[in-house]
Amino acid sequence: MNTPLRTVTNPSEMIAWSRSAHQAGETIALVPTMGALHRGHLALIEHARTIADRVVVSIFVNPLQFDRPDDFEHYPRPIDADVEVCAEHGVDAVYAPTAAVMYPAGYQTTVRIGALASVMEGASRPGHFDGVATVVTKLFTAVRPDLAVFGEKDFQQLTIVRRLTADLDLGVDVIGRPTVREADGLALSSRNTRLDQAQRRAALAVPRALEAAVHSAAHGARRADTVIDAALRVLADEPLAAVEYVAVFDTDDLSAVTDLDAHPHDRLRIAAAAFFGDVRLIDNCALFPS
Ligand code: PAJ
Repeated sequence: MNTPLRTVTNPSEMIAWSRSAHQAGETIALVPTMGALHRGHLALIEHARTIADRVVVSIFVNPLQFDRPDDFEHYPRPIDADVEVCAEHGVDAVYAPTAAVMYPAGYQTTVRIGALASVMEGASRPGHFDGVATVVTKLFTAVRPDLAVFGEKDFQQLTIVRRLTADLDLGVDVIGRPTVREADGLALSSRNTRLDQAQRRAALAVPRALEAAVHSAAHGARRADTVIDAALRVLADEPLAAVEYVAVFDTDDLSAVTDLDAHPHDRLRIAAAAFFGDVRLIDNCALFPS
């Protein structure tokens, strides 16, 4: 098992690697990422190591899923440090194709997601989830993993990847893992490094807003509006925060919720998106934590 890390940059080499692992009777877990690896990604990698014989981490900043060119341009790309971190954490292969390899001249196929992509992140970022779905399909096809590990930090993405995997018979077991946070509650994100000091302090309003909503639900609020207002009040108190949305949804179909008691409470989550300067942060949590 302790073979050195292999870096793979094109799909045919990736397919060959995967085929030989499977021929040796080994299972493969994939952790798809856009790099700038942090402890959130590492928690997924650690989990992947416990569920499969081989772990592949993909690192690809996918142009198809960015709706703002400046966000794509400024997305951090510390590829050498990322590969080193993967080697230190027992990853067997890093799959890091270039955009030209993934989307060569003449490329014209995309995977289109239905209603699950029409709310929250999908409503705010048109085309985003079609970009995610397309790249995840390509990554699954090249890596051919038995399992793939995704974070609940991007809960809508996780739900869409599960749907896509079932709909297209991709035969991959999709595993969701909890959000890793800084000690002060901020969810780890590759975009956090782009916050200045004042914005970093202000960003705490996001987890605090979610907490206020959870508190409101725990203290008897029965309408989604009431808990959403509790969250919005916290965000309104932070002058550096520009709120995009706060939504309560049912994890079954991501539909918007009105009456909390009309849904099993363990299926309810609250999500928020807000800008701090030009850095956009998202977070979500269970509305009734067990
Ligand atoms: P990226 O933002 O790099 O995230 C890669 C994976 O790490 C995702 O499954 C995400 O949910 C998870 N993750 C991010 N922050 C986390 C945290 N604080 N705790 C736990 N998990 C966390 O999501 C993407 O890349 C892309 O959309 C991708 C799926 C790779 C397709 O391009």
